[in-house]
Amino acid sequence: MVEKIIEDIEKVIKEAKEGIKEVKDISSLEKWRVKFLGRKSLLTQLFSHLAHLPLEEKKFVGEKLNSAKNLLTQLYEETKSGIEKIETVYNLSFPGRKISIGKFHVITKVIDEIVKIFSKMGFGVAEGPEIETEYYNFTALNTPEEHPARDIWDTFYIEKEKGILLRTHTSPVQIRVMEKYPPPLKIIAPGKCFRRDAFDSSHSPVFHQIEGLMVDENIKFTHLKGVLSYFIQEFFKREIKVVFSPSYFPFTEPSAELSILCVICNGKGCSTCGNMGFLEILGCGMVHPNVFRNVGYDPDIYTGFAFGMGVERLAMLKYGIDDIRYFFLNDLKFLEQF
Ligand code: DAH
Repeated sequence: MVEKIIEDIEKVIKEAKEGIKEVKDISSLEKWRVKFLGRKSLLTQLFSHLAHLPLEEKKFVGEKLNSAKNLLTQLYEETKSGIEKIETVYNLSFPGRKISIGKFHVITKVIDEIVKIFSKMGFGVAEGPEIETEYYNFTALNTPEEHPARDIWDTFYIEKEKGILLRTHTSPVQIRVMEKYPPPLKIIAPGKCFRRDAFDSSHSPVFHQIEGLMVDENIKFTHLKGVLSYFIQEFFKREIKVVFSPSYFPFTEPSAELSILCVICNGKGCSTCGNMGFLEILGCGMVHPNVFRNVGYDPDIYTGFAFGMGVERLAMLKYGIDDIRYFFLNDLKFLEQF
């Protein structure tokens, strides 16, 4: 009797070890458990024989049965945790890792939007180099030698002796375009500009401008007013009161500044508009005859208007951003909002 039981135990162990090799997932493991450790398993049946054995043999067979049961239980646990691990790592029904898709910087988006508005009015897009010469940045733009904008403090010079610098505005693109193409023309030129300014809430040593230029026979200040007023309504997507006031730029005569009713306080006065109720948005004017002469256009035949606007300023007003530094700090929490 005892020998038969021992033989059965060994047979069970052997079969169980063979069987576990076929187990590949939780459901086949459960079948294995029911077969070898369940209530109706051979092992459980063998336990029931114990009661009929004499004391000595009962002890001997009991130990054998217990160690067989422990062995199978251990096999079961090990296989189970192995399967669970694999299923957690490779579970194909788990949500995938989120892929973050890059997007355009808010300044790029605002530039695109401005370009679109002017494209609708028939303006083409021109570009010029960020590294410029004194000639294009100042001289050709009728900016005399002693003009304060030429001061070393405002301009980043690369090679002062050779007059090579980082452009302080996008206006030199006007010169480059007019040198290359005869009138009439109608362009805007977006791009980076550089000035030796502090990096504070309203200044940055690098910023973006959009230059505009329209030249033809009989271009008048009213054309300038019409084009810019339309642009402002389109950009802010609502009727906004615009005011042109006299100003000075060496390359335009007359020169003007365009201000809009403060979009933050609606003209009541706030910190953004310095309690003025109005915000200066851009500089503009009628192209100075000297500028035309410098590029070989005849100022007796042609007239034109030009303007230059700060992109960051416009973006700040459009989105209610109170510090220009946000655009340059690469903080994803800020950038992802746009
Ligand atoms: N370049 C000027 C600036 O950076 C802005 C400007 C004013 C551009 C008048 C123009 C203009 O084309 O006509 O302050």
